[in-house]
Amino acid sequence: MMRKPLIAGNWKMHMTSAEGCGLAARVAESCVGLTDREVLLAPPYTMMAEVARVLEKSSVIISSQNICWEEKGAFTGEISPVMVKDAGGSGAIVGHSERRQIFMETDNLVNQRVKGALRFDLLTILCIGETLEQREGGETNAVLEAQLRRGLEGVSSSDMINVVIAYEPVWAIGTGKTASKEQAQEVHLFLRKLIAEIYEKNIAEQTRILYGGSVKPTNVDELMAQPDIDGALVGGAALDAESFGRIINFES
Ligand code: G3H
Repeated sequence: MMRKPLIAGNWKMHMTSAEGCGLAARVAESCVGLTDREVLLAPPYTMMAEVARVLEKSSVIISSQNICWEEKGAFTGEISPVMVKDAGGSGAIVGHSERRQIFMETDNLVNQRVKGALRFDLLTILCIGETLEQREGGETNAVLEAQLRRGLEGVSSSDMINVVIAYEPVWAIGTGKTASKEQAQEVHLFLRKLIAEIYEKNIAEQTRILYGGSVKPTNVDELMAQPDIDGALVGGAALDAESFGRIINFES
């Protein structure tokens, strides 16, 4: 099955609304005429609705950077799937390493978030990744397998159509160090085989697996040329219109 590449820009905790809207407008321009790939932006919550309005006429998907599993209630500091949709969003990033490492989110919490997002039909980007210590200790596959299996616990085969996996080696995030294309491809293939084991081959073939970690205009083409890399989750370079525009327009 052909998997449509997805380029996602995670703005993390950056920019004012005015800056975000300006950047979104430039991203929309970079997407004109591109029908063979999808583009997603995850702005801070405060500007999500405004950015969605700027992107109204484009096909850019708006995503939240995290998600609660409940529709509403006493969950201070959280955002619900209904709120994301109300703000014009249709996607959610879940389990980003910054959430896991700085805010101590566990696999169990991440799994609840995944199921919550899927219950509301959001395109759900489940992030997984190993630390440098784990890689050097030869634990990469075991760590990724545990994060993937636990993150997807209770997720049905039919829900997998709305699931995207993002492999983000923690040691490559914001550090300028990118996994080599070979290292990334090896992990992506491992993850695809694992998805086939958990579900079935068809599901593994349809599931998009993004690479994240210092993706830049200079390395996007070689990463995207790998057979099991179906897109990118971009942080730093997504804050610059020119760089992100080049990344969106990777050569296929
Ligand atoms: O969500 C994006 C990733 O954390 C990658 O960030 O491109 O700045 O390394 P980066």
